[in-house]
Amino acid sequence: MKPEILVFAASPSAAVMRQLDEQFHCHHVWRVPPAEQDAYVDSVAARVRAIVTTGPQGVSAALAARLPRLEMVSLNSVGYDKVDLDALRARGIPVTNTPGVLTEDVADLALLLLLSAARRLPAMDRYVRNGDWSARLPLAPSRSVRGKVAGIFGYGRIGQAIAARLSVLGMEIRYYQPRPVPGVAAQRAGSLLELAQQSDYLVLSAPANAATRHAVNAAVLDALGPEGTLVNIARGALVDEHALIAALQTGQLGAAALDVFEHEPEVPPALRALDNVVLTPHIGSLTVETRHAMGQLAVDNLLAHFAGQPLLTPLP
Ligand code: 8YV
Repeated sequence: MKPEILVFAASPSAAVMRQLDEQFHCHHVWRVPPAEQDAYVDSVAARVRAIVTTGPQGVSAALAARLPRLEMVSLNSVGYDKVDLDALRARGIPVTNTPGVLTEDVADLALLLLLSAARRLPAMDRYVRNGDWSARLPLAPSRSVRGKVAGIFGYGRIGQAIAARLSVLGMEIRYYQPRPVPGVAAQRAGSLLELAQQSDYLVLSAPANAATRHAVNAAVLDALGPEGTLVNIARGALVDEHALIAALQTGQLGAAALDVFEHEPEVPPALRALDNVVLTPHIGSLTVETRHAMGQLAVDNLLAHFAGQPLLTPLP
């Protein structure tokens, strides 16, 4: 008998989906219309032994409580912000995620967003498409990134991969996170506010948790200033989105390049209306190669669990 599992998130990798269906009796929640998902989960809850989902979708204590035979959670993401780890730990249920395999693509997107904001890529694209170029409308120069300071909030794997790319552009790197990172060249600021004061570009790559929620508030945005740019490839929850919109509207903040949003996929119309923003739909890891690697790791963790082997990438 194959173990029964709830699959909340599909992988774009056909090979990953095939392995899930071959190895497990899958209940594909993502195929069910949202309004009917609760009833669907209830109809199979008594038999479910594992969950495949993502950090942004999460596992609430209420969901875990509905699954009396739950043995493990395999996240198809590195982030685990909406997973109620306390509720799962209390029942000894391990959670795995997908660290490492998405680092380079996410760092590439941070670089792409930073450069797009600096060189005003969306506006330049519109200028050509709208016929403004052939109409010979004036075009202001944008800003060079060389010699500018990039402050990185959250200096883990992804933060350091972003730093490596930005150094190649000739940017000066600083970082802030509560715990100093030993053996790195970049200087650590004393606080996030101090980092924002020192930076031309503030790049967010910290996890979302109670300590980082709305860490980027009006004061931090003000410190970044009218010539400053915010880049977020981490989580929308790190930023007070109302304060961000206000700062961008008044020009207290120069620009923002955002892949993640507080209530995604909802993006406030006021933010979408702004000219000084670059917006992408949470695509840091959305490449064929990386989504396959993430999905494979999620499957391998499930297989290890049901084979009684050590998990490959358990959360501590
Ligand atoms: C994914 C992510 O977009 O890994 C993460 O934490 O946010 C992204 O890689 C998301 O988890 C959907 O799979």
